[in-house]
Amino acid sequence: MAIPLDLRAEAHLDPSLHYRNPLSAHWQQPRTLLLTGATGFLGLYLLGELLTQTQAQIYCLVRANDAAAARQRLQGLWQEYQLDPSLGDRVQPLVGDLSQPHLGLSATAFTELGSRLDGIYHSGAGVAVTQPYDRLKAINVGGTQTLLHLAHIGQTTPFHYLSSLGLFFGQGTPAQGRFQESDFPEPASVKGGYKQTKVVSELLIQAAQERGLPACIYRPGRILGHSATGIIDLIQNPKDFLFILLIACVQLGCYPQVEEAIEAAPVDYFSRAIVHLAHQPASFCQVFHLLNSRPSTWLDLVATTQGLGYGLEGVTVEAWVEQWRQRGAAVLTPPLQGLLSQVIEARGTALFPPKPGIDDGQTAQALGTIAGAYPPPSLDKTLLQVYFRYFHHQGAVSQPPLA
Ligand SMILES: NC(=O)c1ccc[n+]([C@@H]2O[C@H](COP(=O)([O-])OP(=O)(O)OC[C@H]3O[C@@H](n4cnc5c(N)ncnc54)[C@H](OP(=O)(O)O)[C@@H]3O)[C@@H](O)[C@H]2O)c1
Repeated sequence: MAIPLDLRAEAHLDPSLHYRNPLSAHWQQPRTLLLTGATGFLGLYLLGELLTQTQAQIYCLVRANDAAAARQRLQGLWQEYQLDPSLGDRVQPLVGDLSQPHLGLSATAFTELGSRLDGIYHSGAGVAVTQPYDRLKAINVGGTQTLLHLAHIGQTTPFHYLSSLGLFFGQGTPAQGRFQESDFPEPASVKGGYKQTKVVSELLIQAAQERGLPACIYRPGRILGHSATGIIDLIQNPKDFLFILLIACVQLGCYPQVEEAIEAAPVDYFSRAIVHLAHQPASFCQVFHLLNSRPSTWLDLVATTQGLGYGLEGVTVEAWVEQWRQRGAAVLTPPLQGLLSQVIEARGTALFPPKPGIDDGQTAQALGTIAGAYPPPSLDKTLLQVYFRYFHHQGAVSQPPLA
């Protein structure tokens, strides 16, 4: 019989790690940073924000054969995602791998890197949600453990970890009705290898905080395309179910009449928030919930989409799923069709499974949202027009939106 996974026991932080050295003197105006996951969707925009909001040299851990190939990977994505034309010489690709000892660097290079850093942003992760814990452990848990060692070298390096609000899904209802930033999921009821590795990483970071590491945890919710370009991955590794569903509705000419609150925001809203929060002294040892607190619903999104000239008829969810099964393959590009089919096979007509209430009060306070300093974005006609222009340009919807 398989031994149940004890996630608390998995969160083993080297007992020799105590963060007693002074904090890196330049943490607020960093000179040197490390970013993992810079070739990822959120990671790439985090890199853009770090370049904008700081003057730092940014080491980016990239999987590649050599430094030239790593730079080429970053440069290619940089152009594809229409970021500033040149990466510039403040970006230093570092060939490595989160699953390897010392990140795949030599022991000397690892120590030298650690002694120079003013901040670590850990956004890299294996995100294959269908993989079991053991397959993701080396990258997601091992990578966090290695980076917590790196933060210990030389002056104590502030640490920023990208987790996920998904950890609360399937957790029942919390005592206060909504999960607060201070809440932690019950490890034993977190299902799925990806989420389990994220829980273990959060536990590791909590342990490091208790031993003196100034670390912050950011838990993003659903992330949408960039608000100016609409760019999101629709081809290599599409992830966002919500907009794929909306694209399918446009292509089928009908939508399921279901209730669902939408708390998603564009990637640039989240990446800007993370880098802003990371530089506030009050952020140390805090957890942040990144969601869009401006209320919106699935039916609002549909109505806005109709306003862009797409004729959409409301039908029951059962009728919609039937339409999808009959005509979906003919109207959607293969990567989108593959992902939506998987979701519908798993969920049937429960397209939006019940989700817990999540509070972002502490995050909104820290961002100044409540005082109007960092207003949550509106999923309005202007934004959806940007998205649908991009979807049309990519061949995902046949008709462009109305100007
Ligand atoms: N996007 C979302 O909707 C979302 C929502 C909540 C939380 N998050 C969290 O936010 C973070 C960033 O998300 P994302 O959207 O940027 O993810 P992503 O697009 O899947 O990118 C993952 C990044 O991690 C890197 N990576 C994976 N395995 C690695 C390894 N062994 N060594 C080095 N790098 C490795 C990938 O590099 P390669 O390019 O070489 O594969 C890529 O740069 C993740 O930690 C994720 O869990 C994301």
